[in-house]
Amino acid sequence: MTENIVDPTTTEAWAELTQLNNNLTPDLRGWFEADEKRAEKLSFTAADLHVDLSKNLITDSVLDSLKNLAAEVKLEDRRAAMFSGEHINVTEDRAVLHTALRRPKGYSPALEVDGQDVDDDVHEVLAKIYDFADRVRSGEWTGVTGKKIETVVNIGIGGSDLGPVMVYEALKPYAQEGLEARFISNIDPADAAETVKNLDPETTLFIVASKTFGTLETLTNARVCRDWLLDSLRKDGALEGKEDAEAVASHFIAVSTALDKVEAFGIDPENAFGFWNWVGGRYSVDSAIGTVLAIVLGPDTFEEFLGGFHAMDEHFRTAPLAENVPALMGLLNIWNVNFLGAHTHAVLPYDQYLHRFPAYLQQLTMESNGKGVTAEGKPVIYNTGEVFWGEPGTNGQHAFYQLIHQGTRIIPADFIAFANPVHATKDGEQDVHELFLANFFAQTKALAFGKTADEVRAEGTDESIVPARVFTGNRPTTSIMAEKLTPAVLGQLIALYEHITFVQGVVWGIDSFDQWGVELGKQLALALAPAVAGDRDVLGQQDSSTRGLIDFYLKHRNK
Ligand code: F6P
Repeated sequence: MTENIVDPTTTEAWAELTQLNNNLTPDLRGWFEADEKRAEKLSFTAADLHVDLSKNLITDSVLDSLKNLAAEVKLEDRRAAMFSGEHINVTEDRAVLHTALRRPKGYSPALEVDGQDVDDDVHEVLAKIYDFADRVRSGEWTGVTGKKIETVVNIGIGGSDLGPVMVYEALKPYAQEGLEARFISNIDPADAAETVKNLDPETTLFIVASKTFGTLETLTNARVCRDWLLDSLRKDGALEGKEDAEAVASHFIAVSTALDKVEAFGIDPENAFGFWNWVGGRYSVDSAIGTVLAIVLGPDTFEEFLGGFHAMDEHFRTAPLAENVPALMGLLNIWNVNFLGAHTHAVLPYDQYLHRFPAYLQQLTMESNGKGVTAEGKPVIYNTGEVFWGEPGTNGQHAFYQLIHQGTRIIPADFIAFANPVHATKDGEQDVHELFLANFFAQTKALAFGKTADEVRAEGTDESIVPARVFTGNRPTTSIMAEKLTPAVLGQLIALYEHITFVQGVVWGIDSFDQWGVELGKQLALALAPAVAGDRDVLGQQDSSTRGLIDFYLKHRNK
C-alpha cells in the first residue's frame, strides 16, 4: 500500500511553508495584541479535551499551508486506509487496526480483516479477560494453596510493559483495595529480584505478556519468576503432594499473539489471552496486553478506558481538518521539526499520576517515526521523528525548564493539566491544587511572552545582569486540559498521541508501524553471549573496542 505516498518536499504547500518560515518573525506578544480572538480561534475541543494551540509560532497563513500539505499528501485517504484495515504497515504486510480494539460491541459498519470479523474476535477476547479478572478480583481464582491473589506481576517489555505501567500509575486511585500490580521488564536481574522481594508466592499471579512470545528479556524473566515461585513454595512446604505444573497453572497466565508458544512454555492455553498481528506492540495497551489493568483496576474501568480511545478515534476519523485536533497537532509538529528546526518535543504533565506518560510516549512516537527511509524504501531527505521526553511539572521546573526558557534551542512543549485533583488538599487557606495549576498557567505564559530588558530594568536590576535575566519568549507550547484524569480521559489522551504520530508518519511518507531498528542490537547480543561467557574464539572475532570492553568484564567479574 505505497501507491498514495507523496514526497512532501515536492508539494506546493512545502514550498509555501519554506517561504513563510523564511519571512517569519515570531512575535507572540504582538500576535496576541493584534488579535484578541487568537486564543479562541486556536483552541479546539476533541472529546473531553480542551486544546489551546495559540501559543505556537503559527500564523493563519502557516496553518492554511499546513492544511494544504495534509491535502497534498492525502492524509484523509491514508486515514481511511488505516481505519478500514488496509495493509499500511508495508514492510510487514500487515493491517494497522488498534482502533478496532476499542470499537464498541455492535458498532456499524462491521469490520472484516483478511476475511475475519474483527469485532467478534475483539469482544470474544475481552469477555474472556473480564471473566478472568472478575474471578481474580472476587477470590474465586486462587493460588495453588487456595489463597486469594493480592499481587499481579506483569512480565513484559516495550509495548508489553510501558502501556500497562503508565496506565496503572495514572489510574491507581481506581485499583481494588488489597490488589496491587507490579512490573518486571528489564533483563537486568535486579529488576525481577527487587520486584518479587517481599512478595508472598501464594498470593502472587504472574502475567507473561509478549506479543511474539519470543522476546529474550520477557522469556528469561518468566523462567526466573517460575523458579522463584516453585522454590519459594517448596521451601515453605506449600507444594507438598502437588506437582510443579499445578502451581505454574495457578500462578502463571499469558498474553500473546503466539498461543502455541505459550503452551510450550507450560502455561495452560485456557489461561492465555490472545490478540492479533494487526496490533503493534506500542499500540497494544488496549488489547489483551491490558489484562493486568482489567484485573487490578476492574473490567468497568477498562471499558471506560476503551471508550475514551474510541471517542478520540471518532473525532480523528470524522472532524473536519480545520478542527481535527490530532491532525492539527501532527501538522504543527511537522512545522516545528521541518521548518523551525526543532529536534525534540517535551511533554510536561501537571499531574503526578501521569509521571510515566512521557516514557510511554517515547516508545509510541520514537519507535513509530524514527525512520530514515520512506515506505517505498527511499532515503528521506528531511528530518523525521523528534526526540520525545519529559517529566511532570512542577518537578521539571526546578530541573530542565531553564533550557526551555533561555537556551539556544527551540523545544516545543505540550503542557497537560486537569481542573480537578484526585486529592483535594489545603495548606492553611491555600488550595494546593490551585497553587499547582497557577504554575501550569504561569509557565506557558512565561515561555510565550518572556520578559524584555526594559521590564527587567524596571524591577531595579543591576544593568550588568539584565541580559541574563531577559526572557526572549516566543517559545512554542500547546496546552491540553480536561476536567479530570478519568479512565476515559486517559484513553483519549493516548489515542490523541497515537493519531498525532500517524499524521506525522503520513506527511513523512514513512512506515510508522514497523520497528526494524531494534533488530540489530538483539542479534548482536545473542552472537556476543558466548564471548561474554568466556569463549576466546568468539571474542577474537570482535572489533578492538568490543573485545577490549568484554576483556575488561572477564578480568573483573566475580570480584
Ligand atoms: O524490540 C521491540 C519490540 O518489538 C517492541 O516493538 C515491542 O513492544 C517489544 O519489543 C516487546 O515485544 P513482545 O511483546 O513481542 O515481547
